[in-house]
Amino acid sequence: MRVEWREHLSVGVEEIDAQHRSLFEKFNTLMEACDQGKGGGEVVRLFGFLDNYINTHFADEERLQQRLGFPDHERHREQHQKFISELAAMKERLFSEGLSRLFVAGVNRLMTGWLIEHISGMDRAFGKFARQEGSISA
Ligand SMILES: [Fe+2]
Repeated sequence: MRVEWREHLSVGVEEIDAQHRSLFEKFNTLMEACDQGKGGGEVVRLFGFLDNYINTHFADEERLQQRLGFPDHERHREQHQKFISELAAMKERLFSEGLSRLFVAGVNRLMTGWLIEHISGMDRAFGKFARQEGSISA
């Protein structure tokens, strides 16, 4: 299952929107590799890209929030950490069980459920704050 970037997911901060779009692309590439029955090695490699990218993206977002004094940044960071630990559990599963339907379903659930919800809720709330502060242009 692919995730499509839609305008309603825009947080209005160019740097973050661009990273979210790349994140979706990386996820789609991973899912295509799974669908096409690419070898486990390729899937591990693509999952590693996605995992690294998500970690970097969250760190960038958290840095920006701190810099702008976003009042909800602690709670936001906790949500990121929760996601990262779920992703780590997926990685464990991939290493221990290899590529399985369970793995594909789990990654799908994380990306299409949690992440989309996070972007449209918490990230957009931060985007609104950042634009109101006037320090970031949409
Ligand atoms: Fe976020």
